[in-house]
Amino acid sequence: MSRVQNAIRGLYHFVRQTRMHSDAYSILEERPRAGSATGWTSSEVASRQHRAFRPLLQDLHNGCPRKDFLALAYAINAAKERNPTIIELGCGSGWNYEVLCALYAEPFSYTGLDCSPAMIEIARNTYSDPKFMIGDATATDLPDRSCDILISGTVLMHLRNYEKAIAESKRLARRWCIFHTVPILEHRKTTYLRKLAYGQETIEIIFNKQELERLLNESGLKIVLELPSIDYDLNFLLGERTSTKTYLCAHNT
Ligand SMILES: C[S@@+](CC[C@H](N)C(=O)[O-])C[C@H]1O[C@@H](n2cnc3c(N)ncnc32)[C@H](O)[C@@H]1O
Repeated sequence: MSRVQNAIRGLYHFVRQTRMHSDAYSILEERPRAGSATGWTSSEVASRQHRAFRPLLQDLHNGCPRKDFLALAYAINAAKERNPTIIELGCGSGWNYEVLCALYAEPFSYTGLDCSPAMIEIARNTYSDPKFMIGDATATDLPDRSCDILISGTVLMHLRNYEKAIAESKRLARRWCIFHTVPILEHRKTTYLRKLAYGQETIEIIFNKQELERLLNESGLKIVLELPSIDYDLNFLLGERTSTKTYLCAHNT
């Protein structure tokens, strides 16, 4: 195949991948109603999401971890726990377990939870050591203080009842909560979007930074570290630059 054909093929795959991940954004006037845009439980989304992350994991193993993988590992390291128990809410097919195996030196035990039965099935078929369970990140069946470090895994942005999700995360953690890859903006108020994620309708929340930080504080969590995660600029839609942050928080009560 010629270089030109190769370049066209590469561009085609890039555009296709990008389109399949996030597409057709619209701004909502108010917080969406319960039960709206629940595309995450589609089994097609599970296999698309799983497939989308395979090349990123390959890059990780080739020594080029994506920025969010680095942010997560950095936040976990900064908690300085020995042999921690870790729970991830919104774990998808469990790739952050693989990320931590590659980038975190401390032995740890990992449990992943996701609302999608199809993702949990893929996770169980992919990784044999961790535990995986189906559940809702805003109301799990797990007891208080179930883990040393709770990861809210790029999921707060998809939870209309995010206040409840923050309280649930805090309840499950003995000390540390990581709110991973949270999209934020500085000027607009917290903004609700509808979009297609991997071809299915979902909601997405872009948090006003001050509002989010106040909410974390009022929920009894102290922000210990704020790390840049993946680039995510919705300026074309919102009229201001947006980015993502990974927050390491500790109980302050
Ligand atoms: C963007 S993916 C993030 C995957 C991974 N944790 C990461 O950090 O890259 C969001 C995941 O959250 C899950 N999810 C969405 N709503 C949820 C809910 N209410 N409870 C649990 N998981 C949920 C989706 O099924 C999806 O796998």
